[in-house]
Amino acid sequence: MFAIARTFALIGVTAEPVHVEVDIGAGLPSFTIVGLPDAAVRESRERVRSALVNSGFRYPQHRITVNLAPADLRKAGPGFDLAIAAALLAASGQLPRRVVDRYVLAGELALDGGIRPVPGALAMAEAAVRWGMRGVAVAPGDAAQAALVGRLEVIPVDHVSRLRELGEGEIESIPPAEPPTPPDTSLPDLADLRGHPALRRCLEIAAAGAHSLLLIGPPGGGKTLALQRLPSLLPPLSRNEVIEVTRIAGACGENGGPRLLRPFRAPHHTVSGRGLVGGGTPPRPGEVTRAHRGVLFLDELGEFRRDALEALRVPLEEGVVTVTRTSGTVSLPCRFMLIAASNPCPCGNGPDSGECDCHPSEVARYVGKLSGALADRIDMTMTVVPPPPEELADDETESSATVRERVIRARWAQEKRLGPGRANSEMTPSELHRHCELDQGAREKLEAGHRSLGLSARGWDRCLRLARTIADLNGEEQIAPVHVSEALLCRERPRS
Ligand SMILES: Nc1ncnc2c1ncn2[C@@H]1O[C@H](COP(=O)(O)OP(=O)(O)OP(=O)(O)O)[C@@H](O)[C@H]1O
Ligand SMILES: [Mg+2]
Ligand SMILES: [Zn+2]
Repeated sequence: MFAIARTFALIGVTAEPVHVEVDIGAGLPSFTIVGLPDAAVRESRERVRSALVNSGFRYPQHRITVNLAPADLRKAGPGFDLAIAAALLAASGQLPRRVVDRYVLAGELALDGGIRPVPGALAMAEAAVRWGMRGVAVAPGDAAQAALVGRLEVIPVDHVSRLRELGEGEIESIPPAEPPTPPDTSLPDLADLRGHPALRRCLEIAAAGAHSLLLIGPPGGGKTLALQRLPSLLPPLSRNEVIEVTRIAGACGENGGPRLLRPFRAPHHTVSGRGLVGGGTPPRPGEVTRAHRGVLFLDELGEFRRDALEALRVPLEEGVVTVTRTSGTVSLPCRFMLIAASNPCPCGNGPDSGECDCHPSEVARYVGKLSGALADRIDMTMTVVPPPPEELADDETESSATVRERVIRARWAQEKRLGPGRANSEMTPSELHRHCELDQGAREKLEAGHRSLGLSARGWDRCLRLARTIADLNGEEQIAPVHVSEALLCRERPRS
């Protein structure tokens, strides 16, 4: 007695098809799972047995062999339970075969037969469409996410005993759902930031071109306050971006419907390199992937581990992380905007303040983390000092909504030039060449600034990208000398 059910293994943020073959043969009662299962998959045996018995099914007292194919793909987690149970029921004649022929099944079983959500519902639904399956049967908690895909029947099943109804077509499928328009949000508002005109401008430019930004300054200057308000300046996610962000959130175990807000990830400074960029067996997305299409905020940058920061270099440049596994590589998307804050030295006051009692070697180590390779990949750096009292008293500050309108207009110009979802910070060398032509005045400005700041070749390109964004904010197609001057200022702004 033999049956096959279909399910998926989640690898990174994509779902790979897996066949669950069940054979019930003569011999002493036993239950063996083969095909590179991890501990959670092997324990499936206990969950499946209890779930079936407690749901009124017969548990075959024979030699049961479960093979998860392809055998060289590592299988992890409890998400195979439902498919194993269904194949077992089909093989023992307790479930019509059309159930396992038509539907991909994914879910974890509780001992009473209840079905629990599993990570990656959206990725699985997409894979089911590619696989040419008619539908997916998942836990009710996973259905809203799976239904975002469309072109697929999504059947919520809350209990194994209802698998029979699935065969009779008695369970209603969830209608395909278009993600709703992202809401006008109630994120922390830029109006909370008093004074700091230069810092506000910096945030606006960063948001407009998705440029990375580092703020350096003594405690209490408003760095954290300012950077936490950056998400409220960013344009809403497009439909495709909602799908991308939801797919990643789902693969990280966040069930529920579509993610409509740009991610804002602020990992603690004790995070490891792997925690930041992802990896492990099976490969898990790191913070950079969870920040895809959104923001990665590293507060107290000087406290982060140096090797962890080093690991950010390639993802920042490439927009994708490649994790190597025994059976090939996995690519994880990570187009994020990096924003960071730091004190100038361990005590916070800064070596030039007259109040710093840090040893010069400590200061050098601290600053060393901020400079070097990573700093060269940060588009904008700004020194932030606490604003004078008269600025703090001023409550005539612009709100996020006003700034966001300008940002959205600047992004339109960029998308028209570069394609949907793309911003100036992502321009390739050939796009730079095509879209950032400088007239003579602007070129001379950039050459002079480049010499005096001692910029690298990469620094030159970054200035061009910034100048492009500043021109876009001003609604101008041609980059003018003033745009270049402001771009140079953003590379190293002296004072707020
Ligand atoms: N410009 C400002 N407008 C309004 N409030 C401010 C401003 N600057 C500082 N504050 C107040 O001071 C508090 C501390 O600011 P914040 O945490 O942003 O400082 P920081 O620069 O991040 O300091 P640290 O280096 O210690 O992390 C804020 O919660 C806020 O109440
Ligand atoms: Mg802070
Ligand atoms: Zn100090």
